[in-house]
Amino acid sequence: MPRPLFIAVLLSGGGSNLQSIIDHVQKGLLQASIRLVVSNDPRAGGLERARTHAIPTRVLNHRDYPSREQHDAAIVHHLQQAGVEVVCLAGYMRLIGKAFVQTYPQRILNIHPSLLPAFPGLDAQQQAADAGVRFSGATVHFVDEKLDHGPIIIQGAVPAYPGEGRERLARRILALEHRIYPQALQWLAADRVRLDGQGLVRLLPDEPRSALAGDQPACLVNPPLESGF
Ligand code: GRF
Repeated sequence: MPRPLFIAVLLSGGGSNLQSIIDHVQKGLLQASIRLVVSNDPRAGGLERARTHAIPTRVLNHRDYPSREQHDAAIVHHLQQAGVEVVCLAGYMRLIGKAFVQTYPQRILNIHPSLLPAFPGLDAQQQAADAGVRFSGATVHFVDEKLDHGPIIIQGAVPAYPGEGRERLARRILALEHRIYPQALQWLAADRVRLDGQGLVRLLPDEPRSALAGDQPACLVNPPLESGF
């Protein structure tokens, strides 16, 4: 059994995606070890979730630093001290700068609650509801220097119903987020993710190939989720 992937989770809010990652690790579905949880907001609920599971936490409040670069550098320092290999942005409400991105090339992931490139930026669920789209979803992607941009690893789609409003759509999307983020991370842990010549993600087959999830939910996920996710 190879050693687990050393990951960190950066967040600013409630941390339900962190919780899902913790749960998948505990169930043995995700071969990862969460070395550190970092928040820029001392009030973030995700910090408490981490403490409950004895995961080390750091609060690095961006207001305490004169520039984005210095704030990023402080975070990178702690990530490196913790031996972090992959950085997961999960509701982290800050842009990260070039130097940070270049320290972890194709090793920083983000989850965004829309089918990117549609609706980047704040409150993607409201943007989707306002646009009257019939499908929306969630995307896990590698982070580059642009907002909510970079090679897509997995997307999941859910229906969006006319007039239902933001909240119901957001709940449906969040439930999907909780499945696709751990799946994407497990693919990294198994070293199955490659970038092709066009900078697009290719997923290598598993050996032996994992069973695909038998009970696919009322949503489309591509690449398909594997058993347990
Ligand atoms: C999620 O919708 C995620 O896609 C977005 O921020 C939200 C974080 O939720 N980037 P939580 O803190 O993980 O509950």
